[in-house]
Amino acid sequence: MTASLEYQAWVVREQDDGFAGQEATCSTADLPDHEVLVRVSHSSLNYKDALSASGNKGVTRSYPHTPGIDAAGDVVASSSEAIQPGQKVIVTGYDLGMNTAGGFGEYIRVPAGWCVPMPADWTAETAMIYGTAGLTAGLCVSKLLMAGADPGDGAVAVSGASGAVGSVAVEILATLGFEVVAISGKADRAEALKALGARDVQGRDVLNPEKKPLLKPAFAHGIDTVGGSPLAELLKQIRPGGSVACCGLVAGPQLETTVLPFILRGVNLLGVDSVEIPLANKQEVWQKLAGSWACPTTEGQARRIGRGELGSALAAFLKGESAGKIVLDHSL
Ligand SMILES: NC(=O)c1ccc[n+]([C@@H]2O[C@H](COP(=O)([O-])OP(=O)(O)OC[C@H]3O[C@@H](n4cnc5c(N)ncnc54)[C@H](OP(=O)(O)O)[C@@H]3O)[C@@H](O)[C@H]2O)c1
Repeated sequence: MTASLEYQAWVVREQDDGFAGQEATCSTADLPDHEVLVRVSHSSLNYKDALSASGNKGVTRSYPHTPGIDAAGDVVASSSEAIQPGQKVIVTGYDLGMNTAGGFGEYIRVPAGWCVPMPADWTAETAMIYGTAGLTAGLCVSKLLMAGADPGDGAVAVSGASGAVGSVAVEILATLGFEVVAISGKADRAEALKALGARDVQGRDVLNPEKKPLLKPAFAHGIDTVGGSPLAELLKQIRPGGSVACCGLVAGPQLETTVLPFILRGVNLLGVDSVEIPLANKQEVWQKLAGSWACPTTEGQARRIGRGELGSALAAFLKGESAGKIVLDHSL
């Protein structure tokens, strides 16, 4: 039994004029009664963290709350044979940062079944440069490959390309030899997207709503991180037999489409969940990211911040202004 420890966290509280996060001193005695206590050195910023920090009850039911759906660090204590003290682990998804205190605090206590052993040669910082966004990008690519996507098929569109998921997806696809068309609303990110390996960068207007149920096929496959009407428009532009992996909803959760892309062109819409899938499936993608799917440019472009910058960085996600990968370093 480890004596309780005091630690620093970025805690969101409900106030008269909304929700706000601020630095707080917490105790490990107040963490949930799970098997593994982890000293978190790094976390990663995700759109879902911005929802939790802004009081979205679909993500976090009650406050005060410490967000952070991603965490990496050292195991301090464990009552599970599977995970040993001193081990380095990655924890992403499940309930972390939703209704379980998350990686924006220096400690978390979680079930052993949420902990992935750190891939060899990776630091906690490297793991959190990828974070849930990188894991999700990897899962999207895996789904496309399982559906038979091949670099020889032609252009693969990535929507929300400058975002956390989109930017990693661009680099993995380019590494695998796919011709990537990055679709982005940020003209000033075009060079950064090309540095990640995008062959071409197109504005969001290529996915503006059109009345026609089918459009000229422009892409062999797609990875959609935005949902809503841009996803419906992307489906209209996929070549016969192509696939679209869909993981996000920043443009809205509704999907208004006809069945025509599916029944006339045999297009596959592939759902991607990174949160509740079995740990072994997450581990498989983490190993690829630490190996042949590594994204050196993403790693080089990542921005490091301390807890004091969380408020402004998360606000940018809600405005669609965030770009690339942002890592929270608890030592800054
Ligand atoms: N299924 C899962 O397990 C899973 C896991 C992780 C994330 N997600 C979801 O994936 C989505 C992306 O997450 P993220 O962390 O990458 O967020 P993000 O960094 O904010 O990226 C989203 C990107 O989408 C574009 N965008 C923003 N608002 C838009 C709008 N109204 N219409 C069209 N495009 C818009 C922007 O890119 P451009 O300016 O380049 O267009 C933005 O950077 C979120 O919905 C998130 O909840 C799902």
